[in-house]
Amino acid sequence: MQAAIENENEMLLQVDDLKVDYQMEGAVGRAVDGVSFALRKGECIGLVGESGSGKSTIAKAILKLLPSNGALAGGRVILKGRDISHFTEEEMDAIRWAEISLVPQSAMNALNPVQRISSQMVETFLAHQAKADSRKTLLDKCQQLFEMVGLSRNRIFDYPHQFSGGMRQRATIAMAIALEPSVVIADEPTTALDVIMQAQIINLLKSLSEDKGVSIILITHDISIVAQICQRVGVMYAGRLVESGDILKVFNNPFHPYTMGLKAAFPTIKELKKTLISIPGSPPLLTKRLEGCCFSDRCPFSIEQCQRVIPHTVTIREDHYVACHRIEYAERFRKEIIDIFGTRVRGQS
Ligand SMILES: Nc1ncnc2c1ncn2[C@@H]1O[C@H](COP(=O)(O)OP(=O)(O)OP(=O)(O)O)[C@@H](O)[C@H]1O
Ligand SMILES: [Mg+2]
Repeated sequence: MQAAIENENEMLLQVDDLKVDYQMEGAVGRAVDGVSFALRKGECIGLVGESGSGKSTIAKAILKLLPSNGALAGGRVILKGRDISHFTEEEMDAIRWAEISLVPQSAMNALNPVQRISSQMVETFLAHQAKADSRKTLLDKCQQLFEMVGLSRNRIFDYPHQFSGGMRQRATIAMAIALEPSVVIADEPTTALDVIMQAQIINLLKSLSEDKGVSIILITHDISIVAQICQRVGVMYAGRLVESGDILKVFNNPFHPYTMGLKAAFPTIKELKKTLISIPGSPPLLTKRLEGCCFSDRCPFSIEQCQRVIPHTVTIREDHYVACHRIEYAERFRKEIIDIFGTRVRGQS
């Protein structure tokens, strides 16, 4: 993800050294700390990491939708060669939905509960380029979008509360693609859905990227979903991107101990009987100023340097980047990682 930024021509969206702070009672917390990645045309990238690692904050920062106590503390967001991080609210209004749209973490929040979905969708069109079309034409367009996401045309006249969680998620996706944006950011689009619904949403996102050429940033804590859709992945920990690159390279041969732990925490179809682990310890407090590696307190390979010096991101091989002082050590022990983390869990209990 990192080096991809070098080739500006094929890049649609670049996030460059992004930093986001939240003002908290009497302190400032850094939720995103120097994150860089790039998204190519028609590509699907995943952002994974445990709860609180800063994934949604990145999505909000890209679209300038941070809450009032949140602010960009550094970095740039470049869309088709334009730095949009300093755009005014009016300029961002022209970009949201039309060029980048967000399927927010809770689909219910994206829909107005007291308005029929049909009116909400038509208004989204009217707020942008479709003023010349009649309401009937627009409604028809919206119904086509409903069909595209697997919802029946007539359900468009429902209120959001008449929909199931999966249906709301689909309606939100239909709204997100209404103006044919080049980028869709889907924040936990399958959380709280049953496995059948999950599979349907995954297929929908897949066809958006493969058939319609939409570029997708898929945010989730579930690496198995990322593995099904994305070509590249960024692994977030405590506001930093600790490992990134080609999905197969990152997941088949992870170099960062956190990625190894994350992988060992998930079951796979091939290894149904494998022992699953949880990574002992918890992430650092947001307000703690980190001198060294953000994972050093939980890392079984941590040495004094890890506590003191922030590791640079290095290129392991083509399209595989890692920020870790202990790459060689971690590689040697990749196979034993479950035992190593497991011993630490037992040691703490
Ligand atoms: N409005 C806010 N004010 C203060 N802190 C916040 C605010 N929103 C988020 N945070 C903090 O910022 C950090 C990153 O939050 P964020 O929602 O981006 O995480 P996430 O990776 O999306 O987590 P999840 O997987 O649970 O959705 C967390 O420590 C969170 O508590
Ligand atoms: Mg989130």
